[in-house]
Amino acid sequence: MTDLQTTDLHAADPADSPWWRDAVIYQVYPRSWADGDGDGVGDLPGITSRLGHLAELGVDAIWFSPFFRSPQKDAGYDVSDYRDIDPLFGTLADADALLARAHELGLRIIVDLVPNHSSDQHAWFQEALAAAPGSEARERYMFRDGLGADGSTPPNDWRSVFGGPAWTRITEPDGTPGQWYLHLFDSSQPDFNWQNPVVREEFESVLRFWLDRGVDGFRVDVAHGLIKKEGLPPFPLETEMISQDNTALSPFWDQDGVHEIYRAWRSVLDEYEGDRIMCAEAWVAPAERAARYVRPDEFHQAFNFGYLEAPWRVADLRTVITDSLSANDSVGAPATWVLSNHDVVRHASRLGLPVGQKRPNGISASDPQPDAELGLRRARAASLLMLALPGGAYLYQGEELGLPEHTALDHHYREDPTFHRTSGTEVGRDGCRVPMPWERDAPAYGFSATGASWLPQPPAYGDLAADQQAGVAGSTLELYRAALALRDERGLGLGGLALVGDTTTDSTDADTAEDAVLTLHNTGRGGEHPTLVIANLGTEPVALPEGSALLLASGPLTDDGLVPTDTTIWAAL
Ligand code: GLC
Repeated sequence: MTDLQTTDLHAADPADSPWWRDAVIYQVYPRSWADGDGDGVGDLPGITSRLGHLAELGVDAIWFSPFFRSPQKDAGYDVSDYRDIDPLFGTLADADALLARAHELGLRIIVDLVPNHSSDQHAWFQEALAAAPGSEARERYMFRDGLGADGSTPPNDWRSVFGGPAWTRITEPDGTPGQWYLHLFDSSQPDFNWQNPVVREEFESVLRFWLDRGVDGFRVDVAHGLIKKEGLPPFPLETEMISQDNTALSPFWDQDGVHEIYRAWRSVLDEYEGDRIMCAEAWVAPAERAARYVRPDEFHQAFNFGYLEAPWRVADLRTVITDSLSANDSVGAPATWVLSNHDVVRHASRLGLPVGQKRPNGISASDPQPDAELGLRRARAASLLMLALPGGAYLYQGEELGLPEHTALDHHYREDPTFHRTSGTEVGRDGCRVPMPWERDAPAYGFSATGASWLPQPPAYGDLAADQQAGVAGSTLELYRAALALRDERGLGLGGLALVGDTTTDSTDADTAEDAVLTLHNTGRGGEHPTLVIANLGTEPVALPEGSALLLASGPLTDDGLVPTDTTIWAAL
């Protein structure tokens, strides 16, 4: 390595760092993972029966999207009881059994806490509807009088993330048109009033409820949204899912007041044994602003949506990697990396769209279709690059099988409120939420014994089923298994990172080597296992440096042993 020019990006973590600093956390979307009772919706007993898949994959923890009691208007992100399991998914006893089995297998469990809003069926909201304006019950939510003589104009111009106005008018108990309540998401998801200490006490108690049951942490939904700016000033712009646009300007995102809430939560977690963690879903830019959520007395981790958003171009990847590491280093927090989740088009499809175009919020049959082969090739390369980066990584169920988005789902199946609130202008997120294929030749590809499936699976899922990939050299599943094993063995998640090559040019001319190939050097845990990472995004194959030994490649090398286009390799030095 002495003759390679390097630029240090990040110093190694101590080898005995707590588990979460380099954890690989796998997201299970409970309704779509495994269906134990055959009703077509996944459930907790189904999940427990298939946990072996995750132990073999080699992840450290599982994050479950919400399985709490909910009318399911936003697939469980509309919670009506934070201390119970929705009957669709099972019972509290099923949750205990799942936790116990996961812990036996060495897998930690992260649950999804939704504090910005409840369901409109939550007992508190029902109480608020029955109570008078100004009452204690109304003060737990964001009720306001409307404008105009008859109060028929919403209190302000805020827009819902799912489309349409962010306010809905209620009918008072006496039958007259009444106050309005704020919902940054669907009208079935009223926002809590986080200025009210009663709301704060309630959520600290919910945290304790799940910590006492043995969960290892929380993913916190819309963590940047809890506090709204004093006076609720006007803000006419649209907000999109997982978008960091406008966060700096918005009176409802990233207000300074959110941080004291998380400091209080952190002290609750710290009372418990076993390194329990919180991860923030905060769509906040720039990276320095997002880093405020992971200061030492707040969250342990925050999702790095900047990485998910980065186009498949060396200059963009280099920038986001550099900025994320430096912002997180400035507060002593590990970076995290993510490519897919239940809110975005799966990366195997996203990366099959032309580079540089706006990331779509869903793909329908009438939209330009992704190039499936190119998408999968790039997805494998992007994942292998991600898993070589220091910090934590989040995987979304099915990416280890290379699953594409369902891009031709019939509209009548769509459940995402975005689709309905925009009259179909936004197709929404159902295409990434389609049930998992386990066995090619079983009903619903092994998702449910009856063949029922709440969303139909596309035919391409058959050959991608887990049983078609397990033990098959070169399959995406085996690539992920090998990558996770090597990442662990070599301690890549705790390593120091350097950019290799001349990075002083800031050219956007893709013909220069610096803009075609991203080369990184990861020192590995304790500096013991230096690993070279080469991601070739250019048009020409590139050679491995002399003296390096190939460890893993996201796709086959050329006959001459070169790294082809859209391929990432790891090599020992
Ligand atoms: C988060 C969730 C998303 C949900 C929204 C409202 O962004 O990830 O699925 O719709 O919050 O709770």
